[in-house]
Order: sequence, then structure tokens, then C-alpha cells
Amino acid sequence: MRSSEALEISRHVAEEVRKAVLPIAGSKEAGIEVGMGKDGTPTKRIDRIAEDAALAVLKDYDVRVITEESGVVGDGEVIVALDPVDGTFNAAKGVPIYSVALCFSRGEKIEDTFFGYVINLATGVEYWADEKAYKDGEPITVSDSDSLRCNAIMYYPRREYGFKRIRIFGSAALEICFVADGSFDCFIDIRKGAGKGLLRVYDVAASLFIAKKAGAIVTDDRGNDIGNKRFTMDERFRLVVANEKLHPKLLEVLK
Ligand code: IPD
Ligand code: CA
Ligand code: CA
Repeated sequence: MRSSEALEISRHVAEEVRKAVLPIAGSKEAGIEVGMGKDGTPTKRIDRIAEDAALAVLKDYDVRVITEESGVVGDGEVIVALDPVDGTFNAAKGVPIYSVALCFSRGEKIEDTFFGYVINLATGVEYWADEKAYKDGEPITVSDSDSLRCNAIMYYPRREYGFKRIRIFGSAALEICFVADGSFDCFIDIRKGAGKGLLRVYDVAASLFIAKKAGAIVTDDRGNDIGNKRFTMDERFRLVVANEKLHPKLLEVLK
């Protein structure tokens, strides 16, 4: 599969998910629990509706989908990590920061990714990357700020770091794209624990690929490369994402 086909498929998924989700976003119905996802967290109606719409498109392609609510679906050569709604809380409340994320890979490891796509479902703003990274078709790059007095997105501050601003928007996929396009200088996730609360592969694989192609350095909170992480339901992530000048300074201050 070529990147151009992955973009076409992603846009088709985005269109169908938006059609399904926008009419109920912000309604009481959207946030009703309808079961338990394969990831071990409750599935809300809006998650189910979105995943059904996405899988109805993806079933026509030779792909293996790894998705939050249903786990692994299909057995094709190309792996697609899918988060049908990233930012379910926002979607259920009608806060317009929630996305669908699709990451296309030729192998089992994150480093085998060849295409990433994230769209803000509420606004229609698209981010994707093949060889380069784009926002709504225009090339994007990370910021060039190397000062710790920077604009950070951070889950969750444990003390004072000297950052100028800290924000949390509630859709990790979009938030990493906000670093890819230079709106924010870094994305940091240093959450403690091992299981449920941490970021999963479908949350971040697509946007991490986009951020890398926009010039970001992507590591865990200790500076280790994450390319060996796998497309499995069990994989968990702590992250530091920033331009090459700021990234080492962040690792130092996070110690
Ligand atoms: C969540 C969002 C959120 C992050 C959580 C994720 P979901 O995904 O990405 O920003 O803090 O860890 O679980 O549940 O809305 O798909
Ligand atoms: Ca998610
Ligand atoms: Ca989700």
C-alpha cells in the first residue's frame, strides 16, 4: 500500500466517522456506557458509533486493525492502529477537541510506520504525514524554541519546571499534532503506573509519526527511543516530544 492510498482511506474513514459522531457529540446519549472495550476501559456510545463507522470502511481493505474498543480486527499485511475517538470526554461534552487517529505500518514495530493521519472531528482540521508532515495540506514544522520558558502540553506536572505555559486539552493525538505544527513547543507525558491510565499505541502512533516528520525528537521520559514499541493492545507510553534543541533540556529538567 502506498501513502496516497492510506490518505484516501483515512479521509474516507474521517468522513464516515464525522457523519456518525457529529449529530450526537455533546448529547447525554453520547456519554452513555455501552460495554467494556478490549483495552479494559468502558466504551461510551460515541466510541462505539465511531468505531463501527471506521471499521465499515476499513473492512474493504487488506489490513489488520488494532483498535481501542474491539482489539484486533482483520488479518491483512498492513497494520492500522485506530483510535475512533481520541478525546471521548470532550466529544461527549461537546468540547470541540476530539479526533480520529489512524497509523499505517508495514511491520509490527512503531518504526515500521509509513503514514499517520489525525483529524479534529469537530473542526475538520487535518494533520498527516508521509515523507513530510502537513496541516490542511500545508507543510508544518516543530517550533525552534530552545528555552525551557516554553509552551508545554504536559500530563501531569509534579512540580514547577519553569515552563511559560502548561496546557492539557484532552486528546493526546491532537496535542502531539499541536507540537508538530509549532503551536506548542513540547508534549510531555510522565504519568506514573503501568496499566490503564497510560497512553496506548492507537492514542499516539499516528501523531508521533507526524511529529517526527515535522522535525520532532520522540523518546520516552528517560530519553530512550520508542521505535521498538509494538502495535499491541498491551504497549504503554511515556513521552517527551520536542525539537532537537529543547528535547535534551527537557530530559534534564524532568530527572
Ligand atoms: C485519551 C486521550 C487523553 C489521554 C488519555 C487517553 P480516549 O484517549 O488521549 O488525552 O490523556 O490517556 O486515554 O480515551 O479519549 O480515546
Ligand atoms: Ca485515545
Ligand atoms: Ca478512544
